[in-house]
Amino acid sequence: KRVAILISGGGSNMLRLLDSMAGDHPARPVLVGSNDPAASGLAKAAAQGVPTVAIDHRAFASRTEFEAALLEPLLAAEPDIICLAGFMRILTPDFTRRFAGRMLNIHPSLLPKYPGLHTHARAIEAGDAEAGATVHEVTADLDAGPILGQARVPVLPGETPDTLAARVLVQEHRLYPEVLRRFAAGDRKPVLL
Ligand code: GRF
Repeated sequence: KRVAILISGGGSNMLRLLDSMAGDHPARPVLVGSNDPAASGLAKAAAQGVPTVAIDHRAFASRTEFEAALLEPLLAAEPDIICLAGFMRILTPDFTRRFAGRMLNIHPSLLPKYPGLHTHARAIEAGDAEAGATVHEVTADLDAGPILGQARVPVLPGETPDTLAARVLVQEHRLYPEVLRRFAAGDRKPVLL
C-alpha cells in the first residue's frame, strides 16, 4: 500500500510512521506533505529519501483553493492511504469524501471526548483520571470518524498540559504505527494500548 503523510510541524508521528514502514510492512511512504513550508518535519522526511511537498495555505484565498493545490501532488503520488499526523488544517467535506475510508488522523484525546484543540488542558480541567490519544478514520465531521485505536495514560497529580502532552505523545508514537500496520493489511479491529 502507498501511504502519503500530511504534517504541519515537527512531524514526530510522521517519523515514527516512516520508521515503522522501513522493514517488512504492507505499506510504504510515497509522499510527505505540509501546509507550512517551514515545517521542520519536511527536512526529516527528505533526509529519509521520501518525496516531500509544501503547499502554504496562507497563499490561498480560500480553503477550497488550498485543497485544490494540495490535491495535485497528493493525487500524483497515487496514495492508497493518507495519514494526517500533526496536520493542523480542517479539511472540507469535499476533500474528506474523496479519501473516505482511507484517510487516518491521530488526535490527542480519548475521543469522543475533547474533539478540537487544547485537549490536555480540558482533560485536566475536567478532573479526568485518564487521557490519551485516538487514531480514527477521517470523515466530514471533525475528529469524529470510526475509531481505529486508542492509547490511555493516567492523569497524574499536579499534571500540566505540557507534562500530559509529553506522555501522550509517547503513546501516539506507539499507537499510530500499530494502527497503520493493521489498516494497511486490511484489519480494521481497533487497537487498544
Ligand atoms: C502533537 O500535539 C500531537 O499530539 C498531535 O499533533 C501534535 C504534533 O504532532 N497529533 P507531531 O509531532 O507533528 O507528529
